[in-house]
Amino acid sequence: MRTFSIFTAGLLLAAGAAHAVDEAATVELSKNNGCMSCHSAKEKIVGPSFSAIAEKYKGDKDAAASLAQSIQNGSKGKWGRIPMPAHPSMSPADIKTLAQWVMTAQH
Ligand code: HEC
Repeated sequence: MRTFSIFTAGLLLAAGAAHAVDEAATVELSKNNGCMSCHSAKEKIVGPSFSAIAEKYKGDKDAAASLAQSIQNGSKGKWGRIPMPAHPSMSPADIKTLAQWVMTAQH
């Protein structure tokens, strides 16, 4: 557990230094956490596409924080009738990385 935290902190520092989310590692993270069974970068699947999410919240400086809340606690009613389940077992650091990454999705 301790080793894992240090590793995660290292990753975050590295990502911060590069001033960008590590694309390949984050794609893996999204696959490993099942996001891609409901989402994709550009196509609506069960949930909205990540590019549509980035577009909707692009002027909102608190978007990454509020998306992190949605991922952690689940979300309903913002996009349609289908709710997103909560992800209670994911680490806050991983959720934050994914929320920031979603905001970088391109059309
Ligand atoms: C079972 C399907 C499903 C899974 C798995 C899922 N989502 Fe979602 N997601 C949805 C749906 C449906 C919505 C729209 C919810 C709504 O209307 O409020 C959504 C909405 C979102 C939003 C927008 C929230 C907002 O506040 O507007 C983000 C960001 C997001 N998902 C990211 C993720 C990430 C990252 C993962 C993986 C950890 C994930 N989702 C896993 C179905 C899913």
